[in-house]
Amino acid sequence: MRFTAPRGTRDVLPPESELWRRIVQRAEGLFALYGYKEIVLPVMESTDLFVKGMGEGSDIVQKEMFTFEDKGGRSLTLRPEGTAGVARAFVQHNLGRSGLPVKLYYKGPMFRHEKPQAGRYRQFHQLGVELIGSPHPLADAEVITLCNDFFRVLEVPAVELLINSVGDESCRPQFVQALRSFLLKREERLCPDCKRRLEINPLRVFDCKVKECRKALEGAPRVTDHLCEACATHLRSLMDYLQNVNIKFRLEPEMVRGLDYYTRTVFEFQKVKGGPQDTLAAGGRYDNLISIYGGEPTPSTGFSIGLERVAAMLKEGAERNEEIGVFVIAIGEEARKRAFSLVKELRDRNIHADMDFMERSAKAQMKVADREGYPRVVIIGGEEIEGDYYTFRDMGESSQRIVTAEELYGLLMEG
Ligand code: HAM
Repeated sequence: MRFTAPRGTRDVLPPESELWRRIVQRAEGLFALYGYKEIVLPVMESTDLFVKGMGEGSDIVQKEMFTFEDKGGRSLTLRPEGTAGVARAFVQHNLGRSGLPVKLYYKGPMFRHEKPQAGRYRQFHQLGVELIGSPHPLADAEVITLCNDFFRVLEVPAVELLINSVGDESCRPQFVQALRSFLLKREERLCPDCKRRLEINPLRVFDCKVKECRKALEGAPRVTDHLCEACATHLRSLMDYLQNVNIKFRLEPEMVRGLDYYTRTVFEFQKVKGGPQDTLAAGGRYDNLISIYGGEPTPSTGFSIGLERVAAMLKEGAERNEEIGVFVIAIGEEARKRAFSLVKELRDRNIHADMDFMERSAKAQMKVADREGYPRVVIIGGEEIEGDYYTFRDMGESSQRIVTAEELYGLLMEG
């Protein structure tokens, strides 16, 4: 019997996994540079955590959660995102006790029962950042700048930043009311899901991908026209900070994001002219989430990057075998023993080295070294053992030379 990975999940194989490693390394370097520390969270949480945090009316809670009962009859859910877990951990461990803000990042798999398609998986991976404890637009500017730097450093092509404000508890209810009245007049044109959304949270109609619903939204009230003075000032100030550090963005008044916990700032980094599955990273401010979980009111902001989507953008440009390495070719059993100890010695010195494990001929070993992209090889045969030296060859040159062990280490350390 043969098995395949479950629908909507995938194996990340070399060389793509190498690309992933480089992306994660770069991201973690940047996160550290900005003062963020890693938090490692469980991949499952109480189902209620997500229902209360992301909202009953969100698509994720309605349709996309992998929920199951444990043997004690408790309802658990595989995390569809990381922010709820971070907020839960913040409250549980009183992480704000020695001062705010608390700057955390996380990485790992997330699970959503979505219809699989290009760029949309049921298990996918995020790199996320949360700045917990500041209500100031400067905090939003900081996380947006960090995310922008991520795309800049990795040279991801054709990415644009969209921002908006979804208001707060003092102005959003009026906007929601205006939107509900507007949509009620067009109710018969809405899909069954949106009819339900109209009841629970009409903002979610903006997330609908059904063409008729998109049409019904034409001329709908815009959240930016309903912002209270405090929210409008917050948004203006954020735009000011971004302009000040030369970050380009577009104000997108229809962008509301699919999670109920957002207040004020929301943003997305999208592939230029892309569809909904082309959002590479997204985030926003969530000033009430931590108090929903029983903590002191702690305004916060953050984002997460979708690793699969970023890797897909970089795939074509992926470099091959970045590290300088050496392949040790052994001819005969005695040579194999020597090669094995040489490879170990090189690795102990932090030099990337490998050898053959298949008893191949010298010629076939040379072919492997070439195929794997090794720039250098070392050859060990009877003569080398007798003379206590190595034959060294730079693949770029046709000649080879004889070297002592110390000379060899010197050559390889040079890189
Ligand atoms: P989100 O917009 O739901 O936000 O997801 C963030 C990113 O995860 C998306 O922009 C996308 O790149 C990736 N993503 C989401 N769903 C899938 C999928 N099915 N397949 C592949 N990639 C996917 C959040 O998760 C929030 N927690 C972000 C945040 C952090 N807000 C504040 N702090």
